[in-house]
Amino acid sequence: MIKKGIILAGGNGTRMSPLTKAVNKQLLPIYDKPLIFYSLSILMLSKIKEVLIIVNKVQLEQYKKIIPDGNNLGMKISYKEQEKPNGLPEAFIIGETFIKKDNVALILGDNFLLLECKNLKSGAKVVLHKANKPELYGVAQLKNNKISIIKEKPKKFISDKAITGLYFFDNNVVKLSKKLKKSKRNELEITDLLKIYKKQNKLRFKELGRGAVWLDTGSIEDFYNASSFVSTIENRQGIKIACLEEISLNNNWISKKELNQSIKFYGNCKYSNYLKTFL
Ligand code: G1P
Repeated sequence: MIKKGIILAGGNGTRMSPLTKAVNKQLLPIYDKPLIFYSLSILMLSKIKEVLIIVNKVQLEQYKKIIPDGNNLGMKISYKEQEKPNGLPEAFIIGETFIKKDNVALILGDNFLLLECKNLKSGAKVVLHKANKPELYGVAQLKNNKISIIKEKPKKFISDKAITGLYFFDNNVVKLSKKLKKSKRNELEITDLLKIYKKQNKLRFKELGRGAVWLDTGSIEDFYNASSFVSTIENRQGIKIACLEEISLNNNWISKKELNQSIKFYGNCKYSNYLKTFL
């Protein structure tokens, strides 16, 4: 069972400038919450209580204002800074002292996912979702219910099964990430890491079906589409997606005392009113 998770929330979000000039992309709203709430909620739903958030150097203080330390969520949340985006596997090098001897999950701070997922004991596990434009992602080709080929942003079609930004790794991931070489785009590639696990016959996958959701948040249009999706569900059903305190309460990580603290922290707003319904 994986107990630790990393959210990689670095990057400059240049494609969304000027919105991202002063505010980190993962702090921009998807309807009624910052984008990072959604990735954090996925880790919490996987019962991961210890989380490291890797952020840009200049934006650490912004994050601490909204997610200070995890106390109100019954979690341990810590931060590390990334000098510049050097590729996803760098998360495991920056996070080495956080990971220690444990297994670890990684989620990209800009991934919007709704799914149920199980943890792993050894090896690596990826989550696949059908994509209309697989050339934008890491892609997996399946054969006999196993991953046969992995390719980062394939120019020629090999499969429509995109590798989403949620990964589970055993502890070897730290050692293996340090051995990776930079790719043509001058980054360490998560797909190179996955290829090593595949070679060792230790790569598993979960394929998401119709019930699950994976949305892009790369562009401003994507933000509006994701916002409208959340607004439709929340207003129709009267439940919130990615309400962190609600998940903590359901996980028995907090009591009503911490919930009350959160209500005070957020102040008089709709999100607080929703939290009050659990008192
Ligand atoms: C990264 C990974 C890619 C993965 C994607 C998921 O892409 O390199 O394999 O499919 O995240 O969001 P990038 O964000 O670097 O384009």
